Amino acid sequence: MTGPKTLDDLYAAFDGLHMEGGWHRKFPALWPVPEENFLPYIWRYGDVKPILEAAGELVSTEFAERRNLTMRNPVEGNRYATVRTMVAAYQMIKPGELAKAHRHTPNALRLILDGHGTYTTVNGTRVEMRPGDVLLTPNWAWHSHESVGSEDCYWLDFLDVPAVHLLEPMFFERHPDGLESDPVDADTSDIAFRWEDSVKGLEQSTDTADGMCQSQIELGNPALDTIRLYMQRLAPKTSTRRMQTTANSVFAVVEGSGQTQVGDETIPWARGDVIAVPGWRPYQHTASEDAVLLRVTDKPIYEKLGWLREEVS
Ligand SMILES: [Fe+2]
Repeated sequence: MTGPKTLDDLYAAFDGLHMEGGWHRKFPALWPVPEENFLPYIWRYGDVKPILEAAGELVSTEFAERRNLTMRNPVEGNRYATVRTMVAAYQMIKPGELAKAHRHTPNALRLILDGHGTYTTVNGTRVEMRPGDVLLTPNWAWHSHESVGSEDCYWLDFLDVPAVHLLEPMFFERHPDGLESDPVDADTSDIAFRWEDSVKGLEQSTDTADGMCQSQIELGNPALDTIRLYMQRLAPKTSTRRMQTTANSVFAVVEGSGQTQVGDETIPWARGDVIAVPGWRPYQHTASEDAVLLRVTDKPIYEKLGWLREEVS
């Protein structure tokens, strides 16, 4: 017999070929239940707003294109993502400013927090953005933003950029003319979910999402290929049931205050805050007062791939 005569020689031989024995791995390839990687975390609007105000003085949209602050999960080694597949950011635009048109394969959406007089143009349709509204910019749609009002406007962005990083179909380009020409104004649009419609929908909805809220409505079906959106109303001083799901969620507080238990951690929240709830961490909410959360979840990815597992207890 030629070739390695001892185990050490054998290991050295396949190591030299960039191979590994399945019985001899340094790191396991399979494990019984999802590992805990990304951390539960909260970003508070009250902490972020003064920083964005300062950025408004120091960073122009000419310089930055988008004046946004992304929420980087504190798990070691993470450089960008809020949870495994999604990133959230606070963004501010000042009166008279313009964020030029671009498009990219990542899907995006925004939830408006404060300020009036901003518009977004998505694939040639210009719609106003008002507090509580949710607006979509799907994969490869041109989009730009502008403020024609007299107030600073604040919103939250959510994108599936980390999923695109993982799977690598990233394409991005700036509009050759800076902006789309001759946009058409519209008050209703498939990409705009108005706050007043959400309020009405929540009043009429009987969907309690298996005890995870008092009522919920879905925005779009799903809103984006990779992201599903739910507006969820929580009853005051009542705990929801406890959810464990392989899907990741980011919650934005649209109204009210309360706390979310994620694993062993209790996270108090208030309007404008953003809470990262990584997959497979059991969570439950308790509102202190009537509250509305926007749940942004990558559930469609897990569903399409057959990897969605959920339990409510
Ligand atoms: Fe964008």
